[in-house]
Amino acid sequence: MLYIGVDLGTSAVKLLLMEGNGEIKKIASREYPLSFPHPGWSEQKPEDWFTQTMDGLKELLDGADKSQVAGISFGGQMHGLVILDKDDNVIRPAILWNDGRTTEETDYLNNEIGKDKLSQYTANIAFAGFTAPKILWVKNKEPDNFAKIAKIMLPKDYIAYKLSGVHCTDVSDASGMLLLDVKNRKWSEEMLRICDVREDQLPKLFESYEAVGDILPEIASELGVPGNVKIVAGAGDNAAAAVGTGTVGDGACNISLGTSGTVFISSSKFGVDDNNALHSFDHADGSFHLMGCMLSAASCNKWWEEDIIGTEDFVTEQKAITDDKLGKNHVYFLPYLMGERSPHNDPLARGTFIGMTMDTSRADMTQAVLEGVAFALRDSLEVARSLGINLERSKICGGGAKSPLWKKMIANVCNIKVDVIESEQGPGMGGAMLAAVACGEYKSVQEAADAIVKVVDTVEPDPGLVKLYEERYQQFKKIYPTVKALFPQIQ
Ligand code: XUL
Repeated sequence: MLYIGVDLGTSAVKLLLMEGNGEIKKIASREYPLSFPHPGWSEQKPEDWFTQTMDGLKELLDGADKSQVAGISFGGQMHGLVILDKDDNVIRPAILWNDGRTTEETDYLNNEIGKDKLSQYTANIAFAGFTAPKILWVKNKEPDNFAKIAKIMLPKDYIAYKLSGVHCTDVSDASGMLLLDVKNRKWSEEMLRICDVREDQLPKLFESYEAVGDILPEIASELGVPGNVKIVAGAGDNAAAAVGTGTVGDGACNISLGTSGTVFISSSKFGVDDNNALHSFDHADGSFHLMGCMLSAASCNKWWEEDIIGTEDFVTEQKAITDDKLGKNHVYFLPYLMGERSPHNDPLARGTFIGMTMDTSRADMTQAVLEGVAFALRDSLEVARSLGINLERSKICGGGAKSPLWKKMIANVCNIKVDVIESEQGPGMGGAMLAAVACGEYKSVQEAADAIVKVVDTVEPDPGLVKLYEERYQQFKKIYPTVKALFPQIQ
């Protein structure tokens, strides 16, 4: 049988057609616009996601034996607020995960309701990009829109709804709304009250590997697939990527180098970081995970290369960063182009270069950008280490994982073995695997991961470089606290 994984990302939707044994038959992708209506805001139109997904699905299925398609599932950009009216029309553009407009609402939740209560109800505190502060923002700033809300959902759930007619979500993605009682995998009555939301306005909760229903007949005939194709709940993109890289079970780690950068640690037991610097969420395999998320990762490199120095040839640009330069750069970059989530929780933080001299070269600046992202990932790893989680190795996925140089920097900055897997298609692969589990091809997510995911290479840290990077990291760590007070003044 054939399974489709839909990775609804921030720059594009990436679709993947997988054979039951895990073989990737085809991939397709479609881009859509991202708009920044004000500095620090970030929006997309759910209608664009759907049109482009349908278009991509048609390309994916062109030439395939469509009668063999059994299930479709998702990995989706998390936390985005999608609101529908009573006729299921989109009320306003979706407010995305990297949008920082909710400073007031986040402060209200963390300081007036209180972090202790939030953590008790949801296992997390409020971050500007989470969904609950956005609901409060719509209530405060767009009361007419708030009054029209009949359904609230997350980005990938809009696609699942359009394909199945079911208002659904899954527990991994719902964890990032700050409305879910993560430990008990149900909506938190207290949070619903705090956000002035009724349970009937929320989608039905599923485990990631559960089918929400069959494909709608009109969609099945438009795509030419059988009428009993299962639409499967899917997961937030990080949990889906973790499935796709085999990061399931206890104590496994995955680093995702996409638009955002995440450190994802799977866990068989529910647990909360006392300082809530790491998110405590449900995992797509039925268990739990901890996660640190930086808001700009591969997007920093894209911004630097394409928008600033004006090249799309990332490979040539990185060739100038030869091995002898590693661990010796005097230029540092704080990668906070959209503010920062983990571990600073500071929507007003900004990108910063520091340390340039007259002999600083273009390559030094490029190197600083790549290293700045690696240092910021280490910030989250350090929080995990402080909780006694011993991380010796990590999988890696996302667009940035294509760069051998970046993988080497991460291995040495973080002093971990970086396991490279056969396919970097994290969330799309995870989505297809979740569909395969829901359709009975595998008994569990773990069984699917054991059968499908193959490590093809490992980047080992080099003790000499680890030492050099340790010194650099200690310097990097001092920069944000030193300049932090300036950020609100320079907005
Ligand atoms: C995770 C997060 C990002 C988005 C990116 O908390 O906000 O990784 O899911 O799509």
